[in-house]
Amino acid sequence: MDPAAPLSPLTARRSGPFQGTARVPGDKSISLRSLILGALAVGETRITGMLEGEDAISTANAMKALGATVERTGEKAWRVLGVGVAGFAAPRAALDFGNSGTGCRLAMGAVAGCPIVATFDGDASLRTRPMRRILDPLEKMGARTRQQADGGRLPLTMQGARDPLPIVYEAPVPSAQLKSAVLLAGLAAPGTTVVIEKEATRDHTEKMLKHFGASLRVEAIGDHGRRITLEGQPELEGAPMMVPGDPSSAAFAMVAALIVPGSEILLPGVMMNPLRNGLLTTLKEMGATIEIVATRNEGGEDVADLRVRACAFKGVDVPAERAPTMIDEYPILAIAAAFAEGTTRMRGLKELRVKESDRLEATAALLSGNGVAVEIEGDDLIVHGKGRAPGGGLVKTHMDHRIAMSALVLGCASEQPVTVDDAAFIATSFPGFAELMRSLGADYS
Ligand code: S3P
Repeated sequence: MDPAAPLSPLTARRSGPFQGTARVPGDKSISLRSLILGALAVGETRITGMLEGEDAISTANAMKALGATVERTGEKAWRVLGVGVAGFAAPRAALDFGNSGTGCRLAMGAVAGCPIVATFDGDASLRTRPMRRILDPLEKMGARTRQQADGGRLPLTMQGARDPLPIVYEAPVPSAQLKSAVLLAGLAAPGTTVVIEKEATRDHTEKMLKHFGASLRVEAIGDHGRRITLEGQPELEGAPMMVPGDPSSAAFAMVAALIVPGSEILLPGVMMNPLRNGLLTTLKEMGATIEIVATRNEGGEDVADLRVRACAFKGVDVPAERAPTMIDEYPILAIAAAFAEGTTRMRGLKELRVKESDRLEATAALLSGNGVAVEIEGDDLIVHGKGRAPGGGLVKTHMDHRIAMSALVLGCASEQPVTVDDAAFIATSFPGFAELMRSLGADYS
């Protein structure tokens, strides 16, 4: 995103009923991992259904700068020729990850296991995000980092390890990015690298490492945890990747159809990974009418078509243990909660403070600025649903795509229009969002 570009405001007006079928873009987590694992593999990786959003483009550019061949071969079709584990070349310029925390943090893991120097940078949002949590384990594995601002913020320069060490790492926060960074660095280390997570997070890296030929074992610990053991120095081989529809993007159309009276839509090909489906579980507990039809396996992930109908629903208590399975979905759940009858309490949202924006504050401000009663209590977000929302607000999106899309969903059902100050960042994860929503019945201008 060009930092000098003028803001692009967008207004959503009460509209609908929503009708029709809409295919959401490819999953962001799997698209970025396909590029990075493809770059670390020997031979060709052909990706279909790729997310062609800005986070994927900046990650693709970084993989090219590190020596891989990455090219677009058709619509949502990409080809990567990798350089092999620990085979990255030193990039000539700083790697610019734009708004993408996932691209940046996973690439840091991959670079940590290569004897090269690389500088990591990003936009003003990414420059505020904490990197210390990633640097701590990578430094234990032998990487060195310099030019850090307070808390290990970007821009920073990493000297990857010549002889990376395998570690046993207990993750202090539930983060798939942190887990993945350690596993990607562990690829280059001899022996076994172990990551222990107290609460399981999305497991795409584990599944895909196996798909590319690594030897990896996953064991359950306690009620919610996992222990992942990776054998280092495998020969990763390029492998075909089919990217399923992103459930985190489908969430916006899904909630819009639930809250706009008379709506009925179909969302085909949405990924149903159990570590990503906390929103679906929660909406069903609230009484939402979402039918899961035609479940099938595509490229190693379950996908299904979702039929969503508008209905009345109620507020619920969302347990903290569910947070890792819906970490990106709280802003849009908060919109649904405003249209529920009764209070929704979403517990344990500390991690929301370090997303593309402080999403706990930004979500509360989005709701209160549109007449919805909301409170933050410690790490909990509490929304007092009244089955309706006044609207009429101008929402500050703080360079955060999910805040922008949540506000534009609210405006489809609120009494007065809702305007976002800048819709440009939506293109990081959901290119074509406004067109897709208009095709279903949204009034955006
Ligand atoms: C992601 C992990 C999550 C999520 C992000 C994508 C991933 O971040 O918020 O959008 O692809 O690994 P954390 O790992 O920081 O929780």
